[in-house]
Amino acid sequence: MSVPHFRSSDTNPSASSPITFPALQQKKQAGRPIVALTAYDYATARLVDEAGVDLILVGDSLAQVVLGYDSTLPVTVDEMLHHTRAVRRAVRHALVAADMPWGSYHLGVDHGLANAVRFVKEAGAQAVKIEGGAPRAELVERLTSAEIPVIGHLGLTPQSVHKMGGYKVQGKTPAAIGALLHDAHTLEAAGAVAIVLEGMPRETAARITAEIGIPTIGIGAGPDCDGQILVFHDLVNLSFSPPAKFVRRYGDAAALFRSAVENYRRDVEAHAFPADAESYHLPSEVAATLADRDC
Ligand code: KIV
Repeated sequence: MSVPHFRSSDTNPSASSPITFPALQQKKQAGRPIVALTAYDYATARLVDEAGVDLILVGDSLAQVVLGYDSTLPVTVDEMLHHTRAVRRAVRHALVAADMPWGSYHLGVDHGLANAVRFVKEAGAQAVKIEGGAPRAELVERLTSAEIPVIGHLGLTPQSVHKMGGYKVQGKTPAAIGALLHDAHTLEAAGAVAIVLEGMPRETAARITAEIGIPTIGIGAGPDCDGQILVFHDLVNLSFSPPAKFVRRYGDAAALFRSAVENYRRDVEAHAFPADAESYHLPSEVAATLADRDC
C-alpha cells in the first residue's frame, strides 16, 4: 500500500491555519455559515479537512454507519476513542470534536468529566459533544471549568431514542419550543461553546438561533442555524438506508466503490489483473542466468 503524505494545504499555508472556537463565534456574529461534517477515520477525515470544513465531529453515529449497530446506544468510549485518534492524526485545519457516547456521562458528573478528559488526553479531541439540555448544566459547567469546550445537542437526540419513542421531529408545540429555548439558554449559561440542533422545525431552530449568543449547528433544523452538519456517509451515499428528508447527497460513493470492486473481481477472474506492467521482474542478468540454466 502506498502512503501519500502530500496535502493540498502543503502548498497553501493559509489553508492549513487551524480553526478555533472563537473563530466560530466570530462567524456567527458576521453571519458567515459554519460548515461541519462528521468523519470517523483517517482517510475520510483527511478529505473532509482538506475540503476546508470548520468543524469535524467524530459522531456516535459511527455506531451505525461504520460499526453496523442498530442505534448509537451500544458504542463504547474505547471505540469512540479509537476513531477519534484516527481522525485527529488526519486533521490540520478543522476543529475536532468527539461525541461522548451514551452511558459515558450518565453515571454522574465525575464519571462524565473523567471520560471527557480521556477524549482530550488520549485522543486529542478539542471539544466533546453531549446530548441533552438543562439536566446537563452541571456537567457542562464542570467540563468548561476543566478547560474542555462543550458542544450541546438539543431536539432529536438519538441517545434518547427509547424515551422519544423513535427518531421523531421535536419542538413542534409551543410548550416544546419553550422547553428547548430554556435548554438552549441553560447550556449557554453553563458555558457551552455551540449547540447542535437536530430534527426540529425550521421556525423552532431559527428562534433558538436568534435568542442565544453561541453558534447553533443544524441537522434537519432548516437553513437559519449558524451552521450545518451532516453525517459524512449520508452525504456520499454510504449509509445503506433511504435518505432522511434533510439529507442532500453530494456524491455516490456506493456506486463508485461497487463498480470498482466488481471490475477488480472481473479482471482477476479473467486473468486480466495484474498485468505484466504491474508485476516486479528479476534483474535482467539474473533472468538471463536462470534462462541459461533452463536450457
Ligand atoms: O453522531 C452524529 O453524527 C451527530 C450528528 C449531529 C451529526 O451527533
